[in-house]
Formats: sequence, C-alpha cells, structure tokens
Amino acid sequence: MLSAIIISPDEQFRDATRELLEGSDQIEVRAELNNFYSSLDSWIFNEIKTMEADVIIVDVVPDKEQGILTVEKILEISKHSHIFVAGNGTDADVILRSMRAGAKEFLSTPLESQPLFAAIERVSKVHTVATKEKKRFGKLFTFFSAKGGTGSTVVSTNFAVSLVEQTKKPTILVDLDMQLGEVSLFLGMKPAFNIVDVADNIHRMDEALLKGFIKKHASGLDVLAAPDSLEKVESVGPSQIVQILQFLKNSYEYVVVDTSNTFDDHTVSALDQSSTIFLISNTDLPSLRNAQRCLSIFERMGYKKEKIRLLINRYQKSLEIRTKDIEETLNFPVNWFFPNDWPTIMNAVNSGVPLSTVNHSEIAGSFASFVQQVAGIQPPKQPEKKKKGLLGLFGK
Ligand SMILES: Nc1ncnc2c1ncn2[C@@H]1O[C@H](COP(=O)(O)OP(=O)(O)OP(=O)(O)O)[C@@H](O)[C@H]1O
Ligand SMILES: [Mg+2]
Repeated sequence: MLSAIIISPDEQFRDATRELLEGSDQIEVRAELNNFYSSLDSWIFNEIKTMEADVIIVDVVPDKEQGILTVEKILEISKHSHIFVAGNGTDADVILRSMRAGAKEFLSTPLESQPLFAAIERVSKVHTVATKEKKRFGKLFTFFSAKGGTGSTVVSTNFAVSLVEQTKKPTILVDLDMQLGEVSLFLGMKPAFNIVDVADNIHRMDEALLKGFIKKHASGLDVLAAPDSLEKVESVGPSQIVQILQFLKNSYEYVVVDTSNTFDDHTVSALDQSSTIFLISNTDLPSLRNAQRCLSIFERMGYKKEKIRLLINRYQKSLEIRTKDIEETLNFPVNWFFPNDWPTIMNAVNSGVPLSTVNHSEIAGSFASFVQQVAGIQPPKQPEKKKKGLLGLFGK
C-alpha cells in the first residue's frame, strides 16, 4: 500500500482528492496539510520527512509561487517522495516550473480519477522494484466497547483471527486493555512477554527484537499481550504507545487493537492513530446511551464520521428494537450486527479456540462476512444458492 499526503489551502480540493484516493486500493491518505510551506509551522512541515510518504499531492492553484516553493522544500527534506502537482493544465509556465522543481507528475484540475490513478500506478511500479525492504503502511483497527462487557474482546479477537485466515497478510492483535487484558486468555495462549517489554525496548526496536516479544497463534496471528500485573502498567506512557503502534504499522499490514472501555491515555493514543475505530454497543438502553456519549466524544476529538463504524453485538432479531430505532437514537448508521449466541461464545472463550476454527455457527459466519467487508475481500463462492437470512442483509 502506498501512502499519500495532500497539501492545499483549499478544503474542497482536499476533500475531493481524498475521496478520489479512497477509490483506489493502492494508496492511503496519511495526512492533509492546509497550507503551503511559508505558512506552516516548521515542525508540521518536518513531519513530512518522518512520514516518508510515497506520494505528495500539492495543489498550486491557490498560489502558484507558494505552491512551487513548497514542492522544492519538500524535495529537500523528503527525496524519496513522488510529488504530483495539481494545477491549471493550460498554464504552460506552471507546468514547466513544477517539473523543474522536481515534480514527477502534473495533473490538471479539477482532478479526475483516470489520470490520477494512472500516475499512482506508475509510482507503484517504481516502488515495487526499487524498495523491496520498504516499510509498510499498515491499517490500524481499534475496537472500543461503549460500555464494559459489550464485547470488544470477543469481537476484536475473532475479527483478527478471521482477518489473518482470510487475507493471509501479516496481522497483529495488540491488547491495550492494560489492566485487565483478556486477549491471550480468549486465544488460549500464555505469552512470555508483553507490551511492557516492547515499551521498555522501543528505543532499540527492530523487527528481529520485536519477534522475540510476540507470540504466534495457530491461525498465524501475531499477538502482543497485555501485562500480567498491574504495577507494570504505570511504567508505560502514552508516547511509548504511539511509538509502538507506529512501529507495528510499519511492520504489519493490519494492526488490530483491543482496548479497555475508558478514554485513558493509552486508548486515546490508539484511537488517534486508527484508520478505523469500531465502536461496539449492545441493544440495551444503558449501552446505547453510552454509545451516544462515545460518538459525541469522538466528534469533539475531531474524528471524522467516516473513521468510525458502529457495531451492534449480541443482537436478537426477536427483540422489539429495530435497526431504524438504533440509528435514529444514535443518529449514526449501524455497520454490522453480530448475533447473540452465548453458548457458542462461552464455549470458544472457555476453550481458548476462536470461532472460525471450531464451528460453522451463524456468528462464525457473521465474523467471516464482516472481515470480507472490512478488508474488501470477495466472499468465496457458495456451491448452491442459499436463501438470504436477515443477517446477510445487514452491514450493506
Ligand atoms: N455475540 C455474543 N453473544 C453472546 N454473548 C456474548 C457475545 N459477545 C460477547 N458475549 C459475552 O459477553 C462477555 C463480555 O464480552 P467481552 O469480554 O468481549 O466484552 P468487553 O467489552 O471486552 O468487556 P470488558 O469491558 O470486560 O473488557 C463475554 O465473555 C461473553 O460472555
Ligand atoms: Mg475486554
């Protein structure tokens, strides 16, 4: 996956470009800057260097001079990046000067998907050949329970196992419920090391050292466990969590995080860095009320609506509450419903064996389809057409 930064003082341009890029499975937007070089704080500008983005799109329409200066300055600090200049395609002067400044591509505004995707394809080819050892830009999925016990550990562990089984891509599950983490228990594992060991060594971390702290589950999923004693938790600060997650995003295709259901520093660090936050609620009133609170906290934290997906766990079709009622109460669409199936879940939890490996229950099927939706996988072809149950219609 390539990474991109969009630079433009024009919000409409940034929104439109982001939307276009979301239509490509080759690239992910890592940051958006709302000003040119001269008007940005130097530390923000220097972040570009740290991000090592593959593609940086600079919109020079609002100010040609400042735009081209920005291209030059970026290339001084981030030689590896491919700059795409977006500008007026009939202005020969700006095209020439952009290319002289070091831009790889000139794209006429308004941007259109076809030339943009063709340019991305060219970068992608160079990228694959030239940088085999390059860092990844993995996706980070964080699961957060609206209220204690609504199911973030059940959902995150089963999601992560099914994700690695279906995609076969490097995936790690991180237990950030630092005080009462149960991920290893749910997966029937006894890890020798945990996140505190990684935090203590983060200053000298590399892939080989990381491997030593990680336990591999039979499914192929890597697991970074929570500490086994409470005293150790305090030694880990939020900045270490940021560094750990950043490191993992560079090493894995998917980083899945289970959290405690409080907005503590560790959780907020994960929420901030997430590609997607999955907020889990049940259908009882206290849980829905908390979900509502969480959604408004997310809004105050500045998270865009698209970053959040609402999952309803323990859904019972027979109950009075309908999708419409939930969505109206929360003013938010429900992305997925996981059915209520206590015996199956308890059996899986008590035996430490995830659902996908043991059975073909409705809930196991629901996890498999949920993963397909999140990771954009085509579901395997069914031998014969089955009647579509109610759950098959959810999440559409
Ligand atoms: N879909 C489900 N159907 C039936 N029971 C479920 C389902 N999901 C979870 N449970 C039950 O709810 C319990 C709590 O789930 P889980 O531990 O995943 O919640 P949590 O949000 O992580 O809780 P905590 O706040 O303690 O971390 C499980 O042990 C299981 O008994
Ligand atoms: Mg939990």
